[in-house]
Amino acid sequence: MFKLTRNKATVWLLAFVAILLWGWHGNQARSEPARTYVGSEACKDCHETEHANFMTFAKKAHSFKSILAMRKGLTDKEFRECFACHTTGYGKHGGFSSEEQTPHLKNAGCEVCHGPGSVHIETEDPEDIKGSLTAKDCEICHNSERVAAFNYKPLIYGGAH
Ligand code: HEC
Ligand code: HEC
Ligand code: HEC
Ligand code: HEC
Repeated sequence: MFKLTRNKATVWLLAFVAILLWGWHGNQARSEPARTYVGSEACKDCHETEHANFMTFAKKAHSFKSILAMRKGLTDKEFRECFACHTTGYGKHGGFSSEEQTPHLKNAGCEVCHGPGSVHIETEDPEDIKGSLTAKDCEICHNSERVAAFNYKPLIYGGAH
């Protein structure tokens, strides 16, 4: 008798915990939709000017070519180290993984500055994309090793559109 009650209590407790976890998980999913990277082509229809300028003038639009040109002298590991700055979202949720699997993310695109765009391209809400940027957003890649002096004001639009 005692054993049965205890088992029942355990089952109820487990069910309760499961429901709690399930509810918590659901809330997380609702309040924080997982943002992923969609690639610069996905921005083209709505931001034609920025897209055209970027593709024409920004070296980022061809940044994978730059690393391919130096591929020969590098080990696989060394080559992968280039991805952090020369591709879009490498090492992040839904970011670049390989040229074959994620060809749309192989260059450093719009989203290296504006952040992952999957939610914004659905909602079209400016709140869902990073609009105002600071020099900090550039320093992840344009770090002190690479840049002697980086003048925030005049350069913030540089290499963009
Ligand atoms: C994810 C890494 C990354 C971030 C973030 C980043 N850049 Fe770059 N940027 C690069 C790479 C890589 C190149 C070189 C591309 C090549 O030549 O292969 C580059 C090139 C440039 C150039 C060279 C000139 C040109 O026309 O392309 C400028 C200027 C520039 N970036 C400005 C910025 C500014 C301003 C920011 C911040 C608002 C920024 N970048 C953020 C990776 C980054
Ligand atoms: C920490 C970020 C970062 C990493 C990692 C990185 N790069 Fe770059 N790379 C840049 C930035 C930023 C530029 C833009 C010019 C500058 O500031 O020197 C650039 C420019 C270049 C250029 C010059 C392109 C041109 O024609 O102007 C080449 C080539 C290049 N990188 C190759 C590589 C290779 C190969 C690797 C991997 C071994 C690599 N980079 C790793 C950030 C990075
Ligand atoms: C090198 C970083 C960088 C890249 C890459 C970049 N942008 Fe921007 N973008 C900026 C900056 C800086 C601003 C101005 C933000 C501010 O006013 O503080 C901006 C502003 C914008 C705006 C708001 C309107 C405007 O022009 O001020 C749109 C829309 C936009 N970008 C779209 C794009 C699209 C689409 C791409 C890719 C084709 C792209 N951006 C790539 C840095 C970048
Ligand atoms: C289906 C249309 C649509 C697509 C696709 C789209 N946008 Fe937008 N975007 C908008 C609208 C609408 C606005 C608000 C009005 C405006 O600023 O032009 C906006 C605003 C922005 C802004 C300004 C945000 C601010 O705070 O002011 C940026 C930056 C931006 N978009 C970047 C992007 C990038 C990067 C992509 C691709 C990943 C993209 N957009 C794809 C419709 C779109």
